[in-house]
Amino acid sequence: MTRLTRRTLLKSATAALALPAFARASGHETLLHAQPASAQLVDPEYPPTKVWCYNGAVPGTQLRAQQGDILNVRLRNGIDQSTSIHWHGLRVRNDMDGVPGFTQDPVQPGEDFLYDLALRDAGTYWYHSHSRSFEQVARGLYGALIIEEPDAPEVDYDLTVVLDDWRLTETAQISDDFENRHDLSHAGRLGNYIHAVFDAAPAQFRKHERLRLRFINTATNRIMPVSLRGVDGWIVARDGMPLTAPEPLATLTLGPAERADVIVDVTAETGGEVLLVFQDRDQGYVLNEFPVATGATTRRAAPKALSPNPITRLTTVENARTIPLRMEGGAMSGLQAGRYQGRDLSMRELVGQGQMWTLSGVASFPEAPFFDASLGETIVLQMKNDTAFPHAMHMHGMHFQEVLSDGFGPHKDTVLLAPSEARDFAFVADNPGKWLLHCHMLSHSQAGMKTWFQVG
Ligand code: C2O
Ligand code: CU
Repeated sequence: MTRLTRRTLLKSATAALALPAFARASGHETLLHAQPASAQLVDPEYPPTKVWCYNGAVPGTQLRAQQGDILNVRLRNGIDQSTSIHWHGLRVRNDMDGVPGFTQDPVQPGEDFLYDLALRDAGTYWYHSHSRSFEQVARGLYGALIIEEPDAPEVDYDLTVVLDDWRLTETAQISDDFENRHDLSHAGRLGNYIHAVFDAAPAQFRKHERLRLRFINTATNRIMPVSLRGVDGWIVARDGMPLTAPEPLATLTLGPAERADVIVDVTAETGGEVLLVFQDRDQGYVLNEFPVATGATTRRAAPKALSPNPITRLTTVENARTIPLRMEGGAMSGLQAGRYQGRDLSMRELVGQGQMWTLSGVASFPEAPFFDASLGETIVLQMKNDTAFPHAMHMHGMHFQEVLSDGFGPHKDTVLLAPSEARDFAFVADNPGKWLLHCHMLSHSQAGMKTWFQVG
């Protein structure tokens, strides 16, 4: 058997994958059964990979519902750790947010939990385990969650593209070094097998067909720069939320948990190809390829912006309260002393507890909220990355907008901050409850970059 090097793996990433099952919400309960299974992740010359997943497939069953619906999902725990599900990017009621020991009790092996989700916003979201997520998500406990607009734009295909990064052994099994200290203190647990799973893609596209592609980066730690060849188009939404004006599509760089909806037209010549490429610095690795057949002779007119979701758009931060949020620690910029579980610890003591990072000097989950916001208050999070690594900061329950010199950026639930970057993100604290704020590089979150705040 050939050795699984990163290069061969990246090159072989077009392996045929089992298509995920599809579930449409229709007022009744949808079951997500967390269970062990095996999946043919890599080429058939390798044995199937033992995974943990929802309903027997990775990604788990794709959930599709209409904006305005109620989605009832029953989680059944068939793995031997406790678990829970977080609905990433959905503005849900606090007790449905899926954070174990915080917004709900952990769901023990053999138990069920019923989630009741009111779908206020349309867009591309995803769901994933929020228990030992650095392990459970890395083993496959995630899936796509698509909320359709009542007035969806006209396209020939609406396809979900799930990007993931797996760390596999030579026999294609998931490497179980989840708490490797080097990973925790550096860029997190990166894999050696990157792939993109298109749900229900056709065998070929036709010239001038219009595709809506919903990209979701489900990798636990890897930033994914991807580009498309043989198409031309626009980004129409980020993190589920429509952009006020579509942006021309170039390379799309998605941090862990980020999403983007693109609308593209097939422009490759008949006999050519549409390619999805992972951009690794100057090199590109083809993740997926589709031949192009004859089609229409002319392109359609550019798409209009998607209808906005019912979310407050900021107009000013004049009366906002500013809260500094410093990312600190990690290798190469010096691990530091910090507070952990109510005590001031030296750098050595923190590391002894598996804590390598802090947010404004506090590691993992303080007992007291990082801040309290009154209902309706506008908060500006003044984020500063004082570490040598990028971080993907994620806020539960609400979306924020970057404060720019000439206005506000798009609504986002996860943002990438490069080393030494400082950027401000504002939001209206309009969803009452206790919400997490953490790095979505799940190794970093496990190793300290996790806090919470309270609204109302
Ligand atoms: Cu997608 Cu707290 O997570
Ligand atoms: Cu991080």
